Amino acid sequence: MKRTQKFSCKKFSPDIISPRGDKWLYSKTVKDHFFHPRNFVLGGKPNFKYNGVGMVGSPACGDMMKIWIYIDPKTKRIKKCGWQTFGCASAIASTSIISVMVTEKNGMPINKALKLSQKDILKRLGGLPERKIHCSVLGDQALKSAIENYFKKAS
Ligand code: FES
Repeated sequence: MKRTQKFSCKKFSPDIISPRGDKWLYSKTVKDHFFHPRNFVLGGKPNFKYNGVGMVGSPACGDMMKIWIYIDPKTKRIKKCGWQTFGCASAIASTSIISVMVTEKNGMPINKALKLSQKDILKRLGGLPERKIHCSVLGDQALKSAIENYFKKAS
């Protein structure tokens, strides 16, 4: 029997079946942001002025996330957010949604962005498969690192 025939139930049609047999189902939002990532930076640098950069992970071991932000010095709101990653589909979708969350509605105030939680990100994504939840941490940590970088530059 083919592995995919095992899950023919109409209620649950997994997007991925891992070699271990785990069933992974991605939300519409996750798939949308993976296939159409928002604010992804092509090339070495973003095409907007930035005043904060954060990088977490290691390019050498594969999982890396870099975020550039522009914070309006007067309003202290995040006006621009661009990113690059060598992470997986879940990391791409998570960071894409983070970049939308922090720039929508005239930009998120930095004190609010520093309090952004994994729960907030997962809520907007419509969840992630259990084994992929850690991937959403990369974008969140890179954002916080970019905000710290902004504070260092500003002081
Ligand atoms: Fe490493 Fe998702 S970012 S597995």
